[in-house]
Amino acid sequence: TPYHDQYRPQAHFSPKKWWTNDPNGMVYYKGTYHLFFQHYPKATVWGPMHWGHATSKDLVHWKEQPIALYPDKLGYIFSGSAVVDKDNTSGLGANGKTPMVAIFTHHDPKGEKAGGSKFQNQSLAYSLDEGQTWVKYKGNPVIKNPGIRDFRDPKVFWYEDGKKWVMSLATKDRITFYSSANLKEWKKESEFGEKLGAHGGVWECPDMFPLKLNGKEYWVLLVSINPGGPNEGSATQYFVGHFDGRTFTPISTKTKWIDFGPDDYAGVTWGNTGKRKIFLGWMSNWRYANQTPTKAWRNAMTIPRELSLELTEGDIFLRSTPVEELDKIVNKTIKVDPANLAKNNNIFAVIKQTPSQYVLKFNTQASNNYSVVLSNAFGEQLTVGYDAKTMRYYVDRTRAGQTKFDKSFAQIAYAPRLTTSMGTNLQLVVDASSIELFADGGLTVLTSQFFPKKPYTRLGIVNHGMEIEHLQIQPLKSIWQ
Ligand code: FRU
Repeated sequence: TPYHDQYRPQAHFSPKKWWTNDPNGMVYYKGTYHLFFQHYPKATVWGPMHWGHATSKDLVHWKEQPIALYPDKLGYIFSGSAVVDKDNTSGLGANGKTPMVAIFTHHDPKGEKAGGSKFQNQSLAYSLDEGQTWVKYKGNPVIKNPGIRDFRDPKVFWYEDGKKWVMSLATKDRITFYSSANLKEWKKESEFGEKLGAHGGVWECPDMFPLKLNGKEYWVLLVSINPGGPNEGSATQYFVGHFDGRTFTPISTKTKWIDFGPDDYAGVTWGNTGKRKIFLGWMSNWRYANQTPTKAWRNAMTIPRELSLELTEGDIFLRSTPVEELDKIVNKTIKVDPANLAKNNNIFAVIKQTPSQYVLKFNTQASNNYSVVLSNAFGEQLTVGYDAKTMRYYVDRTRAGQTKFDKSFAQIAYAPRLTTSMGTNLQLVVDASSIELFADGGLTVLTSQFFPKKPYTRLGIVNHGMEIEHLQIQPLKSIWQ
C-alpha cells in the first residue's frame, strides 16, 4: 500500500510518489487548507519543478490532488504563495466566482544555463474552482527581474491598513517588499536585511505576518537561508519588528531561528486563517535532500505548528507548538506514574506504536542532564536530551539508523534553551523517520530525520537527578487509510 512503505511518515504529509521540497501556496478557503508543494513527478530527485497539491479539512489528514501547475515556456514553477482575491481586485474572477490567485517564480533553466542573471521572474496563475484547476495569467511575468540572479519565492498577503497587497520577495542577500492594488502591477517599497541576521547562504522563502503580544501588534518576518543554518545547511531564521506598509524595522538584531534542527526548511504560514498563524516547513535539508534512503517518494512536511509570541529574557521570541488538531489522532493517553519513575534511574517502556507523541515535564531547575532514548532490537538508537552545562537541547542521530548516504548526516544537532525559568518540558512528535522536539512550550524547536531498519520499540529515560513530574505517552493513529 502506497502510504505504508519503509520510512513513510504516518502523521505527516508526504507525496504518494516522487519528489517534494518547499511547501507553496498555503491558503485556507471555504473550510479547506490548501498545501501546494514543489514537486517533480518523474523522479525522487529534484528536477523541473511543478506545484503538487494536497488538501485537508483539519491540518492532519491530507488528500493528494491533481498537479496544479506544470512548467511552461517561461520555465519551471518555483516557490510562491496563493491568496483568495475576494474583492476581485485582479479582475481574474468571472461569473461571480472568486479567484484564487497563485503568485510564484518562473525559473527559466535555459536562461540560467546561458549564464545571464534575469532567469527568475514572478508570475500569476488563477483558479475559479477553489484550487482544483489553474490557468496561467496571459500577462506573465508580472515582476521582471532587474538583474539579480536569486530573485524568487514571492509571499503575498492583503494589508488591510493600507488596502493593498504586500509581497515579500527573496532577493539574494535581502528581502525586497513590493505592493500592488491588483496583483498584476507591483511597486517596489523597500529592502531589508542586507546587514542583519544570518548570511551564511542565499536568502529564500520569506513570509511576513502580524502577531499580538499582550494586545500589542508586532510583525514577524521569516527568512530561510541555505546554507548557514545553526546545525549546518538549510534553516529558517526570523525577525520580530514593525511594518508600516512600506518598511520592516526589527526591534532587535539578535539572530533567531524558528527551528534549530537540520530538517525544517522553507516553511511559511497559511493565509486567510484569521487570528491563527499556522506554520509548516519542508522536513529536509539541501545537504542530503536528494540522497535520503526512501524509495517511491522523497521528503515530507513538518507537523503544522501554531505560532505565537513570547517575551523572555527581555526579548521577543516565536513559540511553535503542534496544532491542537493533532489531538484528533491521539489513540490513547498513557500516563506513567512519576512515583515509579523516581524509583528508577533508567526507565524503559515498550512503545507499541509509531507515530507517537511524548510529553515530559521536569519540575526542578534545569541544572541536571537528562536524555530520552528511543531504540529498536537492531541496536539502533536515537537520543534526545538536555545538557545543563551548555544549556542546550540536542538530538543525536549518529547511531539512529542509516547514515552513509551522506557524509554529514550522522550528527548531533544542538539547540539553546532560551529561558531560565524553573522546570523544563518537552513535547516530542516521533514518526517513522522524524522527530520534532518542542522544548519549554515551543520556545526551542529542533526537527531531525532518521532512518532506522525498523521503528523504535523502546523508550528509555536516563535521568541524572532531575525530578520528572509528568510523563505521558500518546500513540497516534495513522492519517493514511
Ligand atoms: C528553497 C528553494 C526556493 C526555490 C525552490 C526551487 O528550497 O531553493 O528558493 O523556489 O527551492 O525548488
